[in-house]
Amino acid sequence: MIFYFSGTGNSEWVARKTAESIKDSAYDITRYKQTPEIGEEERIGFVFPVYAWGIPESMAIFAGKVKRNGAFTFGICTCGEDAGLTMKKFSAIYPLDSAYSISMPNNYVIGSELEEKEVVVRKLEQAEREIEKISREILERKKVYRVHEGKFARLKSGIANMGFNKFARSTSSFWVKKDRCIGCGLCAAGCPSSSIEMKGGIPVWKGTCYQCLRCINSCPKEAIQYGKKTENRRRYRISDYL
Ligand SMILES: Cc1cc2nc3c(=O)[nH]c(=O)nc-3n(C[C@H](O)[C@H](O)[C@H](O)COP(=O)(O)O)c2cc1C
Repeated sequence: MIFYFSGTGNSEWVARKTAESIKDSAYDITRYKQTPEIGEEERIGFVFPVYAWGIPESMAIFAGKVKRNGAFTFGICTCGEDAGLTMKKFSAIYPLDSAYSISMPNNYVIGSELEEKEVVVRKLEQAEREIEKISREILERKKVYRVHEGKFARLKSGIANMGFNKFARSTSSFWVKKDRCIGCGLCAAGCPSSSIEMKGGIPVWKGTCYQCLRCINSCPKEAIQYGKKTENRRRYRISDYL
């Protein structure tokens, strides 16, 4: 049983590919109204993106409620560059036998320009090979810690992650270009934290969100913006590459 959270599809793709390789099933945690029952599962896995060198809130809360049954446990985080101490922090919530990070295309369009197509393609090819290796190790129940923590991991996963969760998750910087928005409502329907409402045919953001960036990356008209810098930046849609 593999549980995943995914903003823009990378972690979903990793979870599904891994599940296929180890003949298991992958479940989107945002679809559960109640914590799932854990029975006789041989393996329990978690797949999710790294947010500011930490665990997305949705996954941290979910994992804290999942029962432990003596199964082999593993976690895979997907990240653009480095994961810091994400998986060590995850293990403190749900103890893992194995932990991995996989380098995937960066979706953090609100921070910087995204990678060019060739880089995205190369990362996806490398990830596919890494998933095969990870799957073999999971089937062998091998205990592995292969996480690219990067430099200053303690600092990034400590103070920087705390700052992200406290101050950066306000939705107040999201806005929509009215001349481009077609009012399709995909952003509101797809928002995993239900932070978007359609009002007068355009999206309106409220409160805080997970900052998964699904809305801004998946808008079919690229009408959604964040602050002043995203208008000329690329968007990331894994579906363009599969
Ligand atoms: C809010 C946010 C914070 C991120 N922080 C990091 C980070 O600390 N390190 C990193 O390498 N990538 C970071 N990324 C990039 C994502 O982890 C990466 O693109 C991931 O594969 C996205 O997965 P998803 O498509 O399943 O949402 C961040 C992305 C977002 C949206």
